[in-house]
Amino acid sequence: MSAQVHHLDHPLIQHKLTLMRQKDRSTNSFRRLLGEIGMLMAYEVTRDMPTQLIDIETPLEKTQGPVIEGRKTVFVIIMRAGAGFLDGMLNVVPGARIGHIGLYRDPKSLVAIEYYFKMPHDMHERDAIVLDPMLATGNSAVAAVERLKETNPKSIRFVCLLAAPQGLAHFHDVHPEVPVYVAAVDRELDEHGYIRPGLGDAGDRIFGTK
Ligand code: URA
Repeated sequence: MSAQVHHLDHPLIQHKLTLMRQKDRSTNSFRRLLGEIGMLMAYEVTRDMPTQLIDIETPLEKTQGPVIEGRKTVFVIIMRAGAGFLDGMLNVVPGARIGHIGLYRDPKSLVAIEYYFKMPHDMHERDAIVLDPMLATGNSAVAAVERLKETNPKSIRFVCLLAAPQGLAHFHDVHPEVPVYVAAVDRELDEHGYIRPGLGDAGDRIFGTK
């Protein structure tokens, strides 16, 4: 796997992912598990955030302790499935701003078409963490990051739950410098653009729309 792919193989993440794949899992349970995985993945994605020492006073004495440097994070969710990741991530980084990118896949061509784009105004001061549970063809991820780059964020990371090998390769062909954090790279993409073995349509399973 390329150095720009971070495979998050923590047993808790893998266990919860297996439960999510099960076809009979309820919407409620699926959503809760995605939130929990989001929180666990957020630990890994933010692992190298720089810290600085500040002076504090405990009830007993003065000391110094590390806090995260004054950097600003923006979670950028690709609608609609990206929203499922957000709650877990916000548990860990509650002060983050949130940007939205609305894309839909043309069912025939599988090409990503933008219908919504809203970011905080100070993107050039922010580290962007893009969220989408499924990196399938890579078309949405490529288009979302292309569009995001126009706002000049300080850095961009991409977080997904599952990826297809082709999607990952396509993404890094276009955005080789953007690290991808992924819980599992599955076997293949089928002719309908679904990841196999996968977990089905993430949006439908999160929102109970099927
Ligand atoms: N989007 C999904 O929700 N599931 C897939 O398998 C592929 C893309």
